[in-house]
Amino acid sequence: EFNARESLYILLNQAKEFYKDKLWNDEEGKAIGLSYFKERGFSEETIQNFDLGYSLDVWDAFYQDAIKKGYTDEQLEKAGLLIKNEEKKYDRFRGRVIFPIHNISGRVIAFGARILKEDKKQPKYINSPETEVYHKSHVLYGIFQAKQDIRLQDTCYLVEGYTDVISMHQAGVKNVVASSGTSLTEDQIRLISRYTNNITVLYDGDNAGIKASLRGIDMILEGGLNVRAVVFPDGEDPDSFSRKVGEAEFKKYLKHSSQDFIAFKVGLFAKEAGNDPIKRAETIREIVESISKIPDAIKRSVYVKEAADLLKMDEQVLISEQNKILIKAS
Ligand code: CTP
Ligand code: MN
Ligand code: MN
Ligand code: MN
Ligand code: MN
Repeated sequence: EFNARESLYILLNQAKEFYKDKLWNDEEGKAIGLSYFKERGFSEETIQNFDLGYSLDVWDAFYQDAIKKGYTDEQLEKAGLLIKNEEKKYDRFRGRVIFPIHNISGRVIAFGARILKEDKKQPKYINSPETEVYHKSHVLYGIFQAKQDIRLQDTCYLVEGYTDVISMHQAGVKNVVASSGTSLTEDQIRLISRYTNNITVLYDGDNAGIKASLRGIDMILEGGLNVRAVVFPDGEDPDSFSRKVGEAEFKKYLKHSSQDFIAFKVGLFAKEAGNDPIKRAETIREIVESISKIPDAIKRSVYVKEAADLLKMDEQVLISEQNKILIKAS
């Protein structure tokens, strides 16, 4: 219903302004939140551009402010900002830096919130729950700030995290969005396809990141888009790596380390398989399976040829393997 949604947007915007005010004007916010972002290398312009904020380390600072402004507990709960149980009610976000999540038209629909010092007792990030205006699986972090550049460059970088998006922007690479740690969905791919058919996956250089990029690649191929991948050195993500090597080197790295998905997969599996014939066979099947996900038959045949070359295999063998998979799937 229009009015309920509209008032939710207004409340979420109010919360965004509250967290920003704390970051820029409150003593605790400045000493803890603002200096955290600055230590991460974010400029003031970047912090403004992404509407970053800070939530005070007390139970109900936002709640008290919202009540004064006339909001009800029910509205605050519906917005995902208030947690209420039998004993007490309190702000969802406390003592954390705040990353507002914008929809495609720039309205705030949710928040991510990071703890300042990592420990084992609390999750590093907490996020808004699903609400009437926030459906996690439909949303890409950074899409509002990136959409124009995605269209202009006709390609989109896909990263894991909030800070990857922000650091890449600051390094001048603005056509970038994050899946925010979840596995990529069809809806997210459809959202990107409004602006471009080309995606480059830049997931973290760890096992979780590589697994996620393999899954992501297959999803993107199924969606009929073209996909490339960049692998980062072990333990690095786009944020840490861009800060480590600097803007110019980072851009060069993106350009020179980008591989199409076949080369990416061949490289990955070749490392594991070595000369083991059984593992080699698995690799080949894995690659043919990815190619089979491409809806367009002409593209499929181009990729089969490329795969045959890279794997030093007879193209016919790959084609008949692919046909088996396609028949099974139909
Ligand atoms: N994430 C989350 N909840 C967690 C951990 C991660 O929602 N407990 C999401 C966040 O959107 C995060 C993304 O997954 O940005 C990627 O996770 P990770 O690589 O662990 O975090 P970074 O973004 O690299 O965070 P940082 O650099 O601040 O440590
Ligand atoms: Mn992750
Ligand atoms: Mn990670
Ligand atoms: Mn990181
Ligand atoms: Mn990361």
